Amino acid sequence: MADKDPIRVGILYSETGVTSTIGLSQLQGALLGIDEINEAGGIDGRELVAVRYDPQSTPSRYAELAERLIVQDGVNVIFGCYMSSSRKAVIPVIEKWNKLLFYPTLYEGFEYSSNVIYTGAAPNQNSVQLAEFMTSNFGARVYLIGSDYIYPYESNRIMGELVQQRQGSEKLAERYMALNATDKDYVEVMADIRNKQPDFIFSTVVGESTAALYRAYADAGFDPKSMPIASLTTSEAEISQMERGMATGHYTSAPYFQSIQSEANLRCLLRLRQRFDGCSVPNLCWESAYFQMHIFANALRQSGDESIAQLIPHILGSEFDAPQGRIKIDPGNHHTCLYPRIGRVDAEGQFTIVRQATRSVYPDPYLV
Ligand code: ACM
Repeated sequence: MADKDPIRVGILYSETGVTSTIGLSQLQGALLGIDEINEAGGIDGRELVAVRYDPQSTPSRYAELAERLIVQDGVNVIFGCYMSSSRKAVIPVIEKWNKLLFYPTLYEGFEYSSNVIYTGAAPNQNSVQLAEFMTSNFGARVYLIGSDYIYPYESNRIMGELVQQRQGSEKLAERYMALNATDKDYVEVMADIRNKQPDFIFSTVVGESTAALYRAYADAGFDPKSMPIASLTTSEAEISQMERGMATGHYTSAPYFQSIQSEANLRCLLRLRQRFDGCSVPNLCWESAYFQMHIFANALRQSGDESIAQLIPHILGSEFDAPQGRIKIDPGNHHTCLYPRIGRVDAEGQFTIVRQATRSVYPDPYLV
């Protein structure tokens, strides 16, 4: 591949800051995808090369670095963002230059940009299933707690509305914590939870503070068998930052868990471990960051041109055998058909899958 011009792609995943554990896993997913594509001959003999920066979990840095990738480095396509605040900061830049962003994270929905491909779950692919599962098994009195930014506000609003459709429902509280909240900050919240006695807690806490929430819950002596924490953002990555057993018995709704026993997943996990010497914590956002690189590469092979106008027709409607199952980019709304699953954390910090879709579910970002 040495004699042909490489294809440079932009990568913006946080390697430092409050969401760096999940950001690093997304980076590994993207790099694993790039390695596989290059090992298979690249794009018609042209090597994919990552131009990568660390936005430090800070939305304004994401916007600056997206501009740098486009203007100075000349990339046409950027893979990146975890927090919705970072995606919201990058989209105006992407739209201004008419470039393409692949966003590999579950989010609150209610968004469409013709310059974005969304490969994480929309609310109809995680929140709807979680609300149904939790209210059927535990009850409909919910305590909402999240980090203080847009995704938790919106995701809690959706969960509140879903739960309110159930008999005996009650939204007992809606609390927001700083992104760097520690155990101490949660002590007062746990006292409030003890008073209000919800049936379950819905957490939209993200990043490092997730461990503090689960630790404060355990310190308060609560029992996940009767009042678990349910989440869309507590993945294997956040659990890896907790003491052993801290998340056991709590629930997460996601299209992907490391514990999926399919051939495709087991083979992909093996390649990941070989590539990163076992230093990786695969999770739902890792998986999306991985498979979207292949979606891009397959589209580029067909279009032969990196411009958004040439690429998009080949991305829309395209399919890929991802570790979670065969996924498809919805041609109408730029989101992805995915497989909703619900997992309960076991003693090793892995998920026992207690529910899973047998077919992929179409994305419905506006919850029509
Ligand atoms: C998120 O902010 N979309 C997790």
